[in-house]
Amino acid sequence: MKKVLSIMIAALSLAACAPKHQEAATKTLVLYYSQTGVTEKLALELQAQLGADIEAIVAEQPYDGDFATTLERCQNEMVAGIVPEVKPIKANIDDYDQIFLCYPIWCGTFAFPIGGLIKNESFAGKKVITCSTFGSGGLQSTTRYLKEVLPQAEVIEGFGIRAARIDKLSEELNRFLIEHFFKEGEVEALPAFMEHQPVTDAEKAVFDEACADYQFPLGTPIDVAVREMDNVIDYEFYVEGINEYGNPFSATIYVTKDKVEGAKAEFTQVIRNEI
Ligand SMILES: Cc1cc2nc3c(=O)[nH]c(=O)nc-3n(C[C@H](O)[C@H](O)[C@H](O)COP(=O)(O)O)c2cc1C
Repeated sequence: MKKVLSIMIAALSLAACAPKHQEAATKTLVLYYSQTGVTEKLALELQAQLGADIEAIVAEQPYDGDFATTLERCQNEMVAGIVPEVKPIKANIDDYDQIFLCYPIWCGTFAFPIGGLIKNESFAGKKVITCSTFGSGGLQSTTRYLKEVLPQAEVIEGFGIRAARIDKLSEELNRFLIEHFFKEGEVEALPAFMEHQPVTDAEKAVFDEACADYQFPLGTPIDVAVREMDNVIDYEFYVEGINEYGNPFSATIYVTKDKVEGAKAEFTQVIRNEI
């Protein structure tokens, strides 16, 4: 019995020490929709950093208009309850363990061709990692919705980046993939945010610098938590305000500011609270 136990313990400790490259055998597909190319950059970067396969989602009737035309079409489709058809994907989902599903945020939800995709695909038994690009945010709410409509898949909130900060993509995606064990590597751990405190005048000035130019109202900061690194200060603002439709909202807005002389604060993401 003692011998059996020691063999089991040896086997278990070997498993614990097993090199992580076993994970490299995970087969990954990057599936993306992009209208103006920003999400395509995210998808290509994922493909490069993970060594994954990649495929674009194509709408049967392409959304090839400018912003105003696309918005108008989206509004008409929402009113009429139309979900656009997409071409069948060529990849065989059964060949993959995990799918990085990449999309832009449109009208507070995922770009409409993703609705067409999930009419055709259940992703049963697969890990689906949501990734998006956006003007201000929307990854969290779309992930919550995808969890509901893809009950046979394991939907996981992934990586999001503002279109205005796409130049930071490579570095920030690298951090995300390592921190969430999608690839091997090392990144310096970031400190936790401190306690939330009422906003000082200096912090309000940072918030305004980052948010005042945005095309839609981003509210007034009520309190803030800060974390300070060698080169950067990050802020987690809790805000309340009135949105573009005249409705009250609250949100968490992340802002980052480099310490170098002349650097401008920028917001990285708006996470709206559900009303
Ligand atoms: C019709 C339309 C609606 C949009 N709605 C939102 C929105 O509700 N929230 C947001 O943060 N960004 C919104 N955006 C901005 C896009 O998410 C952003 O520009 C994205 O990076 C575009 O990705 P693409 O270049 O891959 O198409 C919208 C863009 C379009 C065209």
